[in-house]
Amino acid sequence: MAPEVVCIASWNVDLIAQIGSPLLRGQTQLASTLERLPGGKGSNAAVAAARQGARVGLVARIGGDDFGQMGLDLWAREGIDSAHVRRAQGEVNGTALILVYPDGDNSIAIYPGAGSRLDAEQVEQARSMMASARLVMASCEVPLAATQAAFALARAHGVRTLLNPAPAAALPDALWPLIDVLTPNEGELHQLAGSERTDQAAAALLARGVGALVVTLGDRGCRLYRAGHAPVTVAGHAVQVVDTIGAGDTFTGALAAALTRQEDWPQALASANAAAALSTQGRGAVAAMPTLEQVRRWRSGAV
Ligand code: RIB
Repeated sequence: MAPEVVCIASWNVDLIAQIGSPLLRGQTQLASTLERLPGGKGSNAAVAAARQGARVGLVARIGGDDFGQMGLDLWAREGIDSAHVRRAQGEVNGTALILVYPDGDNSIAIYPGAGSRLDAEQVEQARSMMASARLVMASCEVPLAATQAAFALARAHGVRTLLNPAPAAALPDALWPLIDVLTPNEGELHQLAGSERTDQAAAALLARGVGALVVTLGDRGCRLYRAGHAPVTVAGHAVQVVDTIGAGDTFTGALAAALTRQEDWPQALASANAAAALSTQGRGAVAAMPTLEQVRRWRSGAV
């Protein structure tokens, strides 16, 4: 069956070390653990959407080393269509160096590797998969030219688009009006708009042509802004956090799946909030990403 959600995806191997406090410049600390786990904002969101019941396809460019096989194995296990994943022999895979602190918060440095050469031509080769999808999503970890080509193609076929603008980057003027749903956190919103005042920043981005803006607020939930509508806040969940790696990606993927199921905004945002909260209760990006059944049971108070 054809994918409903197509992700123009980054893929990284996450090298995750736990340390006692944020590193100071020039400081060395011993880490208490070191793990090598699947990551990349695009792949993470794709896995989250698949666990929430969506049929998902990827457009991605990965490296030729063993880390690439880790991605292919993950997508096969999750039932994700990887026919449009290109493996670039002789190139290294995206790699993220992640430091996790005792409260579960983290710092990340990303080397995008082979993914930095994902281009509009590869996107064009996936035209028929995108044209028959319900939603095309991306993050700012893939080249913006590839995202713009994908969103233009999606728009031409009446397919919804969703961008997670992480890590925050200056977006080309022509991309803004192609974005149906944008999911920044507060920091990314302020950076994109050049304003620290959240409501004002949101209005500025809507004026650039974004259809709906969903600002994620961590355990405070999220806030939806749409032109001509009053903002709506959907409450989040305070949970015992193991680490927050991939929580934003889980939110994005779960929202994509919920919108594809044609849930209305309040329902879709509540599902995404719950999925993101549950995802923080395990180590790394994908281990604790919940299934749709787990989200429903948790929201109904059954667990
Ligand atoms: O959002 C979390 C992700 O950011 C990690 O998996 C890491 O790969 C970086 O892309």
